[in-house]
Amino acid sequence: MIDTAIIPVAGLATRFLPVSKQVPKALLPILNKPMIEFAIEEAYLSGIRRIMIIMGPDQFSIKDYFENDYLDVVKQRVSFKEQQLEKFIEIINSIEVSYIVQEQPLGLGHAILQAEPYIGNDSFCVFLPDDVIFSGSPCMSDMIGIYNEFSLPVLAIKEVSEEKIPLLGIVDVNNYKKDIYEIVEMVEKPALEKAPSNLAIIGRYVLPASVFGELKNVKPGANGEIQITDALIGIMKNSGFNGYKFPGIHFDVGNPIGLLQASVYAITDDPKYGAGFIDWLKSQVI
Ligand code: G1P
Repeated sequence: MIDTAIIPVAGLATRFLPVSKQVPKALLPILNKPMIEFAIEEAYLSGIRRIMIIMGPDQFSIKDYFENDYLDVVKQRVSFKEQQLEKFIEIINSIEVSYIVQEQPLGLGHAILQAEPYIGNDSFCVFLPDDVIFSGSPCMSDMIGIYNEFSLPVLAIKEVSEEKIPLLGIVDVNNYKKDIYEIVEMVEKPALEKAPSNLAIIGRYVLPASVFGELKNVKPGANGEIQITDALIGIMKNSGFNGYKFPGIHFDVGNPIGLLQASVYAITDDPKYGAGFIDWLKSQVI
């Protein structure tokens, strides 16, 4: 049973300078909720009860956020309905969160490797909080279902536009079941002309513990960093890898425009602020 997730958050977040000089990106808000909380809620709804946050050495404000009077603050969240609040408190009380410091920002693969001593031999999930998915059924819950059905690792995929291709992991696939694909090629941040498709890896993974062994043999790749994608290629060749083309709406909140779009999307659903905001937005559209 998969009950453990890693959430790496130590990236440098240069696209959010100047605010990221002092505030970790994971705490930047979508409306009034830090992006990392979306990952934690999705994890909880997917059956995860143990979370390891891999953070930078100067990011202890993330730990403080969840520990210092957190519930008192949550209770003041004006837009929460009573049942939502109870649900949220249940989430916070049911998950064991621990914090691991990644001393140097050597890449996503390196960040994930920091969790090796705490994982053991079981498969686990990875959430990148930059990728926020609004969906009826939590994306990770579906992915764990696919993992249980095929006993193979799974990653989330989505078609992206050409300008995004050199910024992401890109895969080539064979479709064999509705929304489920066999991954046959992976490449991290390819030049457009070298990309095998327009299907990108989105930040949700179900991985076997053998990924740690692969990561130890991976050389620095794209951007001179230890890339998780390069470690996954070994697993794909040895055992196979599935891709899940998830339903719902995805935002890349790792850049200011995506964060703003996710906030706009979130507020339209907000019982207190939604209607007034939509009226204002309409009044701005010429
Ligand atoms: C990471 C992964 C990449 C994936 C992306 C999704 O890249 O390395 O394969 O497509 O997340 O958000 P990063 O955003 O760390 O550059």
